[in-house]
Amino acid sequence: MTTLTLTRPDDWHLHLRDGEALHAVVGDTARQFARAIIMPNLRPPVVNAEQALAYRQRIEAALARAGIAPGTFTPLMTLYLTDNTPAAEIERAKEQGVVAVKLYPAGATTNSDAGVTDLLGRCAPALAAMERAGMPLLMHGEVTDPAVDVFDREAVFIDRVMLPLRRAFPGLKVVFEHLTTKEGVDYVREAEGPVAATITAHHLLYNRNALFLGGMRPHWYCLPVLKREVHRRALLEAATSDSPRFFLGTDSAPHPRHLKEHACGCAGCYTALHAMELYATAFEMAGRLDRLEAFASFNGPDFYGLPRNTGTLTLVKEPFEVPAELPYGQATLVPLAAGETLNWRVRPQA
Ligand code: NCD
Ligand code: ZN
Repeated sequence: MTTLTLTRPDDWHLHLRDGEALHAVVGDTARQFARAIIMPNLRPPVVNAEQALAYRQRIEAALARAGIAPGTFTPLMTLYLTDNTPAAEIERAKEQGVVAVKLYPAGATTNSDAGVTDLLGRCAPALAAMERAGMPLLMHGEVTDPAVDVFDREAVFIDRVMLPLRRAFPGLKVVFEHLTTKEGVDYVREAEGPVAATITAHHLLYNRNALFLGGMRPHWYCLPVLKREVHRRALLEAATSDSPRFFLGTDSAPHPRHLKEHACGCAGCYTALHAMELYATAFEMAGRLDRLEAFASFNGPDFYGLPRNTGTLTLVKEPFEVPAELPYGQATLVPLAAGETLNWRVRPQA
């Protein structure tokens, strides 16, 4: 196979940032995807409908400045759940076209200080409103208990948070974001009710050895952190399977080079530039390029209850050399696998 034409895909988990950073990255996503779920972990976070709409306008202005034709890319906005999110705010957000709400357990990851400390207690009214409105809860699925090993935090989250939540709100749509473990795959595949998961390209392509290959490699550090090979294989098997519950979410999370290559480096991999090239590489490795369209273009909108896209995206089997770095406001940005050559390339839209 030398070309692969898919229904235009969507990215169901994306960090676009704000200000100069937003301007630097938004075009990369819009050149590959028709829509993306925009994560609300700005500083301060996007906690209400008014802030979500203002953020959407800043994204639209950035798209125009990046030369993206109007109507070719739609940002799907989310709210950041806090212990104090009122049920009325969920209803307001729904009316304003906000599509989902993101759970960050307090302290779990980048810009999560305002996150939730008491999901089933203080967030119960908001969760009930979401369940009524059919609004999905997007979960960063890791416990933050310092006594739990970093590599076990996703598996422990299933027992401590996911199962009690699903018992209390069985009708709530839940997306287990950036799934990284076999335990997570098994849970999502078997769970009763409206449960799905996003999977990143980097968790399909790499295991935790990538962090230490020839030395410490901060550009492979993200949260949840890369896991053992057995988990990568389970994720690849799930993504390429017939299950409609697994779909594409890059978790592309840009940080300036100097804050990645730092004594206490930030978590996040930049993959928006070459997202579909990376996913195609992973699916080809599994011998399942035929499953890429369902994963990238069908399963996500079907779960969210949104229409599938109508346009197409074509991948060509030609070498793609990942640039060493990209401009990022006053700083620079290092894409994942910088300097390496991938086997697939997205054909630029006419
Ligand atoms: C994300 C970021 O930088 O905003 N980082 C990451 O490693 N994925 C936050 C997140 O999604 O956890
Ligand atoms: Zn993320």
